[in-house]
Order: sequence, then structure tokens, then C-alpha cells
Amino acid sequence: MPDRNDRQSATAAEALRHALAWQVEAGADEAIGERPVDRRDRAPEPAPGRPSPDRPAPQAASPPMPAQQGAGPPARAAPAAAPARTPAAAPVRLESTGETVASARESARSAGTLEELRDAVAAFDGCALKKTAMNTVFADGAPEGRLMLIGEAPGAEEDRQGKPFVGASGQLLDKMLAAIGVSRENDAYITNIVFWRPPGNREPSAAETAVCRPFLERHIELKKPEILVFLGGPSAKTLLDRKEGITRLRGRWFEFRTPDMIGSGVGPIPAMPLFHPAYLLRSPLNKREAWRDLLAIRARLDGSG
Ligand code: URA
Repeated sequence: MPDRNDRQSATAAEALRHALAWQVEAGADEAIGERPVDRRDRAPEPAPGRPSPDRPAPQAASPPMPAQQGAGPPARAAPAAAPARTPAAAPVRLESTGETVASARESARSAGTLEELRDAVAAFDGCALKKTAMNTVFADGAPEGRLMLIGEAPGAEEDRQGKPFVGASGQLLDKMLAAIGVSRENDAYITNIVFWRPPGNREPSAAETAVCRPFLERHIELKKPEILVFLGGPSAKTLLDRKEGITRLRGRWFEFRTPDMIGSGVGPIPAMPLFHPAYLLRSPLNKREAWRDLLAIRARLDGSG
């Protein structure tokens, strides 16, 4: 028969399990600092965006909410307070300076091949995301492929393997491409607008995107794809410099040029935004539109679109 102490410690353990499950559900699925930080007395930070066609839900498998968890974790179950620390403050200030973007541009321009660019990205320390990521996720697929696809940011599986689109949405992406006779091995080259996983799969910040952008632009210049495909709202809006959501942008042809391409008279490259596969996993009815867009891409590859 469990005594009173046993029952109390079982209740405390249960409360801690719920608190942990609640954090994982909220996207805090990785330890990013040496010590826990008690944020209850601080001003609230902006919440990550709600899942939408523009910002599909994070892919990380999250456990279902425990039944009695609706009101959040028990107030006393949060981790013990640690000395106030703002782990992100210093890198955010650093990366938001024009100097960091300028150094990214200089490093990107000095790369003359995709391999040199991969090395330059791996050596670059100006993006705060690198500090919390396991791996740099540069690209996957066929460097000579006719299509270049650009997603948002690596997720947990991509971070583990160091390759883009290898999780659930990557598997759907491969099927979508196969449906129009395109394979990652032979015809498609895949990357993201940032090269490191944002903690908890949050959307990359404007500063993180800005600092990776010179590398992304150089990536496109060196790859010289025949067609660009922007996967999801953040990728399409960043690269096209548009404010509309993916629902308005998808399925339309745009002309893409980097500033250096404009300067040298190269391009433009035809570009089409497409629903992100992570969104299609959650909203399969939208596969109809995605199929139409894929057919338009196929027609363009065949010279008939
Ligand atoms: N989602 C993305 O946008 N990119 C990846 O690499 C994986 C999932």
C-alpha cells in the first residue's frame, strides 16, 4: 500500500510530466541553454505564428495533450528559477547589423562553386540559429537538376541529418515531384531560405532571413536553375519581396533575379510559389491546387507552358 510520501511524489512526477508535455506541445522541444530560465516574471515574448497556408505547423511530432492539461501546466511545476539570462540577446544584436549582412555578402560572393558556397555557409558564424542547431543544412538533390526548390527552414529531422526535406513533408515532396516525373536524385535541387533549424521550428526572424539571404542569392546564381519553386509563404514572400500570402501567390509565374543578376544582365529565372508540403499534409483538400501548379511546372519543363 503506497504511503502518503509515495503518493505525493507520484503526484509531483505527474505534474512535471504534464509541464514537460505542455512545453513540447508549444514547440519547446529542445534544450537551448545550459540552465532553465524562469520567464514568468518577464514581459511576454511574441507567440509563434498559428499554422496557416503561409506558415504550416511545425513538423516535429508532438504528443497529444494530456486530458487534464487544457489550462496549461500546474503553476508550481515550472523549472526552478535561474539567474536572469537572455540567451538570444547578443546574437540577435549582432546579426541584425548591416555589418553582418555585408560580411555574409562578401563571403557569398567569394564562392565560385556550389562546394565553395557550402563551405562558406558552414564557416559563417553571423546567424544566431547556428548556435542552437546540430548541423548546417545546405542542400540536397541534383546540382545539375533543372528545378531548384526553396523551402523555409530545416526541421528536427533535417537538423539531425544535415539535409533539407527528409522528414514527413520531404517524403510528400518527393511524391509530388514523382507525380510529374521529377526525382530528387536526377532533376531537383532543394534548399531553404535559412541554413539552420530555428528552435522549436518557429518561423525564421527577419534578421535571420536577411543574414542568410546573400548566401541564398549566390546559391541561385551558382546553381542556375531553369525553374525556381518557392515552397510556402515565407520562402515566396522573402524571395519575391511580396506581402500577399501563399494562397494568392501560388500557381502564378514570377520572374526572379538577384541584384547581381540584374547588374550583369543574367536571367530572369521563371519562379512559381507552391503550397508547402507540410501544409498539404494537414490540409489534403488543397492538394488539388498543388496538383494544378505541379502540372504547370511540368508543362514549363516540357516547353509547353
Ligand atoms: N520544411 C522546410 O521548409 N524545409 C525543410 O527542410 C523541411 C521542412
